[in-house]
Amino acid sequence: MSEKIWNHNKIAYGGDYNPEQWSEDVWQEDMRLFKLAHIDTVTLNVFSWASLQPDEETYQFEKLDKIMNMVRENGLKVCLATSTAAHPAWMAKKYPEILRTEFNGMKRKFGGRHNSCPNSLVYQKYATRLASKLAERYQSYDNIIGWHISNEFGQECYCENCEKAFRVWLKKRYKTIEEVNRVWNTSFWGHTFYEFDEIVLPNLLSEHFEEERSMFQGISLDYKRFNSDSMLNCYRMEYDAVKKITPHIPVTTNLMGFYKPLDYQKWAKYMDFVSWDNYPSYNDSIAQNALHHDLIRGLKSGKPFILMEQTPSVTNWQYYNALKRPGVLRLQSYQAVAHGSDSVMFFQMRRSIGACEKYHSAVIDHCGHENTRVFREVTQIGEELDKIGDRILGAREEAKVAILFDWENWWGIELSAGPSVELKYTDEIIRYYTALHEQNIATDIISVDEDLSRYQVVIAPVLYMTKGNYDEKIREFVKQGGTFVTTYFSGYVNENDLVITGGYPGKLRDILGIWVEEIDALPPDFCNYFDFDGEEHQCQLLCDLMHLEGAEALAVYKEDFYAGMPVITKNVFGKGNAYYVGTRSDKQFYKQFIKKICKECEIHPAAIVPKGVEAVSRKTEEKEYLFLLNHEEEEKKVTLEKDCVEILTETEYNKGDTVVLKKRDVVILQM
Ligand code: GLA
Ligand code: ZN
Repeated sequence: MSEKIWNHNKIAYGGDYNPEQWSEDVWQEDMRLFKLAHIDTVTLNVFSWASLQPDEETYQFEKLDKIMNMVRENGLKVCLATSTAAHPAWMAKKYPEILRTEFNGMKRKFGGRHNSCPNSLVYQKYATRLASKLAERYQSYDNIIGWHISNEFGQECYCENCEKAFRVWLKKRYKTIEEVNRVWNTSFWGHTFYEFDEIVLPNLLSEHFEEERSMFQGISLDYKRFNSDSMLNCYRMEYDAVKKITPHIPVTTNLMGFYKPLDYQKWAKYMDFVSWDNYPSYNDSIAQNALHHDLIRGLKSGKPFILMEQTPSVTNWQYYNALKRPGVLRLQSYQAVAHGSDSVMFFQMRRSIGACEKYHSAVIDHCGHENTRVFREVTQIGEELDKIGDRILGAREEAKVAILFDWENWWGIELSAGPSVELKYTDEIIRYYTALHEQNIATDIISVDEDLSRYQVVIAPVLYMTKGNYDEKIREFVKQGGTFVTTYFSGYVNENDLVITGGYPGKLRDILGIWVEEIDALPPDFCNYFDFDGEEHQCQLLCDLMHLEGAEALAVYKEDFYAGMPVITKNVFGKGNAYYVGTRSDKQFYKQFIKKICKECEIHPAAIVPKGVEAVSRKTEEKEYLFLLNHEEEEKKVTLEKDCVEILTETEYNKGDTVVLKKRDVVILQM
C-alpha cells in the first residue's frame, strides 16, 4: 500500500494561521470563513516565542491553549510550529551572543527574524526548551498531525562562537592540522596552519572578495558544510525534544526549494517528511515550477511531500508582486499535487495589518469577508479537494529518468575561480529538465546517495565534483546497460575541491571514452556552432577541447582554431552508453538530444498532449491518476489512450475519446 505521510484522510487544505495578531471575535469569524472555504488544516504558532516566553523564567500558554481548543472544536487538524525562528527581544538584550554576525563582519542587533546564531548555546537551550514545553502541553491533542520546527531555516553566521565551533567541526572531520593543510592545499600562498586556533571563518574579512568568490575554495566549501550542519544541529535538537514526548507525530521543517546555503539532501535524512514553500515569480517557467517540486520529492526518494506554503495571489517581497491571474492558483495547486504533494497550503489565512506582510495576500483579505475573487478561487479548490478525498494520498510518480543534483557540487562549482562567472549549476539543471518536462517525461531529481539501478537514464549536468567513489556507481550503472549523460566541467575535483590529476574529466574518463585537454570560456555574445541531427546549434559559455579515447563524435565544432574537434560524444561502455556534451547549447538542441535518448531507451511521456499541456501521473499499487494541466490561455484537446474517469466532474471517457481542457483548466483522470 502507498504510505501516508501524516494522519490526514485527504489532501490537507489550509495554511499559516496567526490568530494571535487578532482579537477573539475575529477568530470566530475566521472559523466561519474556513468552513466556507473547506479549510481543514492550520499551521499554528510560527512566530509566537515572544508571547509564549515573555522573560527568562516565565512561560505562558493561555492564549495558545485557547487557539488550540478553538481549532480542535472546529474540526481542524494542526501542524504545530515551535516558534523558534525569531527570538524574543529580552533574550537579545540579555544575551547578545544569540545575534548573528553577517558575512561582512557586521554584528546584528535585535530585528527581523531567522536572526539567531546557530552555535549560540543560549539560543539552543531556549529553543529546545520551548519545543519540549510545547510537546508536553499539547501531546494529548490528537488533531496535531505534524511538527513544524522553526521556520525556513537559513542564513549564515560569522560570529566568534561560530568560529570556535568551526574549528571543532574541522577537528572532528579531519583529526589533525596536517590533514586540514593537505585538503585545503595550504602550501598555496603560504597558508600553512600550525594550530587549529589560527583558522578563521572565510568571509569578507579573510578569504573572500565577494560573497561567492573565495581565494581558498577548500576553506569556503568546508564553511558551507559547517554552516548547514550548524543549522541542522539546531533543527535536530528540537526534533529530538518533540519526538521524546510525541514519538507518534511526524516532524518536518519548511524548506525553500533550491536554497543554496543548506544541504537539503543531508537535512532530509533527519526529517520524517519534507515540506516546502513555493513562491514562483512571475517570470518562472512552468518547467521551473515543476522542477522545484521534483527536487523536493527527490529528497525522500520519491515519497509524497507537503506543500506548506504558497500565496493565494501576491507576495509582498518580490520586486513586482503581480496578481495570480484567475485560474493560476488552481493550476499551481494541482501542479504541486501532480508532482507529489499531499497538501495544498497557504501563507497566510488572514492578511495582517502591520509590518512587511500586510500587502501579502491571504485567504481572508483586509475587507474581511468572503466576497472576493481570491476567496472564491480558494473555495473552489477546497470543494474539489473534498471530492478527491483520500484517493491520491501516497501515490507516487514513476520516473525512468533521473537528474543528479548535489549541493556540495553546487557550492564547489560556484565558488570556483574560473572558468566563467556565468556558470550557474541550477541553470544547467534547468536546461536538461526543461527538455524532459516539455516532452512530459517523468523525471526524478536525485542525490548521490540514490540507487541508480531503478533508472534507465541518469543525467548529471556539470558533475564538477566526483565525491568518494561515485564514479564507481556510474561505471556500474552504465556497465549494466544504463545511459549516462554528463557535460563540460565534470570530473575535475574530489570532495575537497582538489583537482584529480591525469586529465579531465578525471575518474569519468574511461566511462566517457574522452580526454578533455582545455576548456574555452566564451564571453557573452561569442558563439561557436555544431550540427546535430540535421540542424545547426550554438555553443555558448564553455567549449571543451577534447580528444576521443574510444568514444564516437556525434558533433564537431564548426569554427575557431578547434573546428573539427568533437563537441558531443557517445561511448559504448559495457552494456550501456555514456554521452558527453562539451558545451552549453540552445533550447532546440536539448530538445532533440533528449528526444533521441528517450527514443533509444524507449522511454515514453506520461501522455501525448498538445504544447502547453503538462501531463503527470501519480500511481498507487492499484490505480493511476493522470493530471492534465493546461497552462495556456486557449482551449486544448487531448485524445485519451485508455478508458478513464475524470474525478472532479465524474465524467467517464473511453479510449479514443477527446477531453477538452478549457483555458488554464485541470483534469484528473483515474485510468
Ligand atoms: C515565507 C515564510 C512566511 C512568510 C512568507 C511570505 O515562506 O515562511 O512566514 O513570510 O514567506 O511569502
Ligand atoms: Zn554565530
